[in-house]
Amino acid sequence: MPEANGKGKRGLFLSMEGPDGAGKTTQASLLKERLENLGLEVVLTREPGGTLIGEEIRKILLNPDFQEMTVACEILLYSAARAQLVSQCIYPSLRQGFIIISDRYLDSNIVYQGFAGGEKLEIINKINMWATAQLLPDVTFLLDIDAEYGLLRLQRKGTGGANWRGDRMEQKELEFHHKVRQGFLQLASLDPGRFFVIPAGDEPEVVHEKIWGKMQELLGKNPLLFLREP
Ligand code: TMP
Repeated sequence: MPEANGKGKRGLFLSMEGPDGAGKTTQASLLKERLENLGLEVVLTREPGGTLIGEEIRKILLNPDFQEMTVACEILLYSAARAQLVSQCIYPSLRQGFIIISDRYLDSNIVYQGFAGGEKLEIINKINMWATAQLLPDVTFLLDIDAEYGLLRLQRKGTGGANWRGDRMEQKELEFHHKVRQGFLQLASLDPGRFFVIPAGDEPEVVHEKIWGKMQELLGKNPLLFLREP
């Protein structure tokens, strides 16, 4: 189990959040590439997933055949994958001084299962604090996009064109996705020190430059990231 609050961590922990179709995955890759060009060591991971166990849990969570899955089951499965990821990947990488970029993290649990799914936020928060030994990101980039536009983007990108069905979460009704967007914005307004909200409807390069502006500020505050272990 990692030490509480990420004690002993030297790296930088970044998460990318946003409604489905906001472009997190593209932005996470662009950011990784740019940081690596500076000679920094970057680990890119995703949630749910990022470990062998987590990727198996992901298959269950996103399988459209499991429509009967309860919100409680979702909370516990997403958190189980997260606990494994923190322990096996995020925390060890941070101890080594790497930069971690996680494509989603615990804010998704609070927003999808809490704000949109209807479970009490305190319960989700407690489970997540336990599962992650209270490890929070240093900065969370919230890619903000209109829910309907995000889903349309996924549909355009996905196979099957107009017949695109999406995974189990993407298939939820539009109202659910509107709540997701509002939930993220509400979380961000409660913690402006951690969240950096970026309008994500623009071209990927434009969004990336906004993220990069914030990143330069963070790197300036963490010059030790440029020092390698002997
Ligand atoms: P992804 O497709 O962006 O990788 O995310 C998978 C889906 O799982 C996405 O619809 C968001 C959802 N999700 C939750 O509902 N709760 C969570 O805790 C996480 C991490 C993701």
